[in-house]
Amino acid sequence: MTIKEDKIFRCAKIYDAQYIIVPRGVSYGVKEEIMERTLSIVKPDGVAKNLIGEVIKRFEDNGLKVIGLKMISMSKKEAEGFYAVHRGKSFFESLTIFMSSGPSVVMVLEGERAISKTRELMGATDPDQAKKGTLRRQFATNIERNIVHGSDGPETAAFEIGYFFNALEIFKY
Ligand code: CDP
Ligand code: MG
Repeated sequence: MTIKEDKIFRCAKIYDAQYIIVPRGVSYGVKEEIMERTLSIVKPDGVAKNLIGEVIKRFEDNGLKVIGLKMISMSKKEAEGFYAVHRGKSFFESLTIFMSSGPSVVMVLEGERAISKTRELMGATDPDQAKKGTLRRQFATNIERNIVHGSDGPETAAFEIGYFFNALEIFKY
């Protein structure tokens, strides 16, 4: 959500074309302020381990709504584009080979604090550091094959959702 303020009005852009304008000093309400979208992926190892349902159930049980969903098979180039921020790092080549090694499931999640909530449910990148009960702690093989992805911030989420989904593939219900 983008918020612009001048002396009199606050204007909030909520998602694509919905605007709310209220006098300055008046809140939009907690709910609108913290409603977010994020991108998650059940990575090729998660799909191979039959964990698609488990991951989605974990998200749905924790108040996240799946508003976009598809199975894809990333090419090496698509994986490199998706993980462009990691280009040059020691794990980049291996990571992009892994991410293009088989089908994965990409989804758009919506909910209050969706970005941080998704990451809490996933757990730390390295499963040995991940908290008990998190998806990665329970199911990851190692720091690379950690079964699930979640965007790490609002700008990243916007880029990552747009990378795999167009407007017609995201639903309101
Ligand atoms: O996925 P997350 O945001 O937790 O971690 P990241 O630092 O953005 O790294 C992206 C992905 O690269 C991880 O999820 C791992 O699959 C992989 N990675 C790796 O193989 N070795 C590392 N030392 C760090 C990350
Ligand atoms: Mg990341």
